Amino acid sequence: MVQLKPAGTSAKGRIGAQDIYAALKEHIARGVFGETGQLPSSRGLAQELGVSRTTVMIAFEQLHAEGFIELRQGARPRVVRAAVGGPDQVKRTRDPRQVRLSAYGARLRGFSPWSAEAPGKVLVDFRHGDLASADFPSAAWRKAVAEAAARRPDRLTYGDPRGSVRLRRALQGYLWRARTIRCELDQIIVVNGSQQGLDLCARVLLDPGDRFVIENPCYDMARQIFAGAGASAVPVPVDRSGMETGGLAQLDARLAYVTPSHQFPLGGVMPVARRHQLLDWARQFDAHVVEDDYDSEFRYDINPVPPLFGLTEGGNVIYCGTVSKTLAPGLRLGYLVVPAELQAVFATAKLLCDRHTPLLQQDALASLIESGAYEVHLRRIRRLNHERRATLLNALRHRLGDKVDVEGADAGLHVVAWLNGIPRSAETALLEGARAMGLGIHAISPLYAADATESLPDRAGLVMGYSALQTGDIERGVHLLADLLERFSGGLS
Ligand SMILES: Cc1ncc(COP(=O)(O)O)c(C=O)c1O
Repeated sequence: MVQLKPAGTSAKGRIGAQDIYAALKEHIARGVFGETGQLPSSRGLAQELGVSRTTVMIAFEQLHAEGFIELRQGARPRVVRAAVGGPDQVKRTRDPRQVRLSAYGARLRGFSPWSAEAPGKVLVDFRHGDLASADFPSAAWRKAVAEAAARRPDRLTYGDPRGSVRLRRALQGYLWRARTIRCELDQIIVVNGSQQGLDLCARVLLDPGDRFVIENPCYDMARQIFAGAGASAVPVPVDRSGMETGGLAQLDARLAYVTPSHQFPLGGVMPVARRHQLLDWARQFDAHVVEDDYDSEFRYDINPVPPLFGLTEGGNVIYCGTVSKTLAPGLRLGYLVVPAELQAVFATAKLLCDRHTPLLQQDALASLIESGAYEVHLRRIRRLNHERRATLLNALRHRLGDKVDVEGADAGLHVVAWLNGIPRSAETALLEGARAMGLGIHAISPLYAADATESLPDRAGLVMGYSALQTGDIERGVHLLADLLERFSGGLS
């Protein structure tokens, strides 16, 4: 659609070639025609604007004469690259701090905004959360999408806010096989990743001023969701067995967020006794436990521990799962399993949020699970990540020896490496030094509650994700890290 300025139309109210020329020139300068740089055809534009093709052609000829576009026989005109400016910067008319916002908006203003990664040449990045593109089951997914697209004649209607029956049925079976979770179809709510699942929990369970219990250190995206809802965080320390639940006894709060299968970020697995302590606490205060089971598919040298949800038969626990670690974070597919008495309110919250998760994607995932391809894929990536983890642990041991202590390697897709002899205060300089060498490393300390100073570690620590890296890159990355620490320790002594 080519937007003509009202002022640009001629006095007689008719659109002339000059108006079209001016509008297109402005669009070209703003980069409106995107990567391909293709303008609309003369026929299409003439129809859209209600003018003759000749009028459009006059405008095209003028732009061509000035070197803005190239005209090709039988093809749509194309922008000549050199003439393209960058996309428009959004013009600010007011200082954003002066805009009146809702209480929610005002709270979010205090959070650090999302920003694109600073450009720079990173050779190896240990960022947690990314997956290797070669791990994605492309052929099986393409087949599942094609099957889903062919099967659904009713795609032109809205779907069930809880998710398609087909996907929920597939998930119900998967949850039973993989996590020993037994639930009714109606307890499952398909969401756009765990993030939306947690957001629905905040909407449904928290009011401004309420308190929520959260691990310290924690998954900061979860903390921000609950804090964004106006609730205050009560950080509870974490040790090698996850959240220290012994301290909860007297703590009145509405909700507790935990990652018991693989504490994020420290990696502890919560033993059964602590799980029962947590559930007793929830019953005592009529609170809810949100169990984020984000990477339980990856377990290496340990036996599975049943999820909290299974221990209570659903009472007071909301289970949250995702395919962000098994398929791709960009798919934005996850699921909640909620207690039976909360089904209706969660379904309404999801409906009001976005009606439902896109149907094609839901059906494709259902098809992948039903065909068995999902579990075949899981076995493959479990093996690949087992190899990556072994490579990382070996490299850290051989290259760094007692300069590092590794924590949380029994499960998941990351480990924590504590850097002996390097104080926490040196983390920023360390990260900058790494970046200059093309090494992406990520500090653990931002994941600690700033006001619970007794928990803050005294040495620098790194959260090292390995699921996006090939084994050679992992070795290379640890090699770079060893060089960096060598220089750093020299500088500190
Ligand atoms: C603790 C935790 N939960 C959940 C997720 C995944 O979130 P989502 O499903 O929104 O992609 C991550 C991703 O890194 C995580 O670290």
